[in-house]
Amino acid sequence: MSDGSRTPPLLEAVEVRKTYQLGATEVPVLHGASLEVRGGEWLSVMGSSGSGKSTLLHILGGLDRADRGRGEVRFEGASIARFGNRDLDRYRNRTVGFVFQFYHLLPELSVLENAMLPGLVGRVPFAWRQERSALMSQASDLLERFGLAHRLRHRPRELSGGERQRVAIARALMNRPRVLLADEPTGNLDSRTGGEILDLLAEEHRRGLGIVMVTHDASIAERADRTLWLRDGRVVEDS
Ligand SMILES: Nc1ncnc2c1ncn2[C@@H]1O[C@H](COP(=O)(O)OP(=O)(O)OP(=O)(O)O)[C@@H](O)[C@H]1O
Ligand SMILES: [Mg+2]
Repeated sequence: MSDGSRTPPLLEAVEVRKTYQLGATEVPVLHGASLEVRGGEWLSVMGSSGSGKSTLLHILGGLDRADRGRGEVRFEGASIARFGNRDLDRYRNRTVGFVFQFYHLLPELSVLENAMLPGLVGRVPFAWRQERSALMSQASDLLERFGLAHRLRHRPRELSGGERQRVAIARALMNRPRVLLADEPTGNLDSRTGGEILDLLAEEHRRGLGIVMVTHDASIAERADRTLWLRDGRVVEDS
């Protein structure tokens, strides 16, 4: 694995540490967690409840910070801790995409508007008007690909769990991220619906999307190219 011609991994956690501060109490969660995601690779991360899977995913996506001083997250070899605010926003909004167990859709917006949202973030209102129709057609293409063409004007509450998760995935893919960070994306769904979501992720993976997927379930994890475990605050390859 160590031939000199290796390009840096797409996304990498290097000895990441995270300690939460609860009042006077320190809660150490990650004690030097390392992993690598290569371009287009699909990784599963397993581990018991409370082992720090969500924490690690949030740190990978720049939604939370690792402890200062030791360890870092690198994207294409560059430490995201050294990004300025603008680059960090760009990283969070465009380079990576997030999917959560409970969808986190905005209830007052339609399916189409929810999916379009990341395309509007960070643009001045003038550009909104110009780009709105382009964004709309991009979002409706994605939603159509995910079998939701007949649901564009519906509100999230009118959809099934599987449909809501498909909207959330469309939203996450709107800015064409290089890596999708998915935290228990099927955790709230029955196994058949969950299987459909995994088929959809597999199709995006086939198109070149990198995926880091957190799951409790070994049968879900095995859809990935590789499975890692979080144990005692570190990442291990085998169970
Ligand atoms: N904001 C926070 N403040 C303090 N402690 C936290 C915070 N977030 C998480 N923790 C603690 O960190 C540990 C890891 O939490 P995390 O949510 O990353 O675990 P997880 O592996 O995703 O668990 P689950 O499988 O239940 O989702 C837990 O002990 C949790 O209580
Ligand atoms: Mg979690």
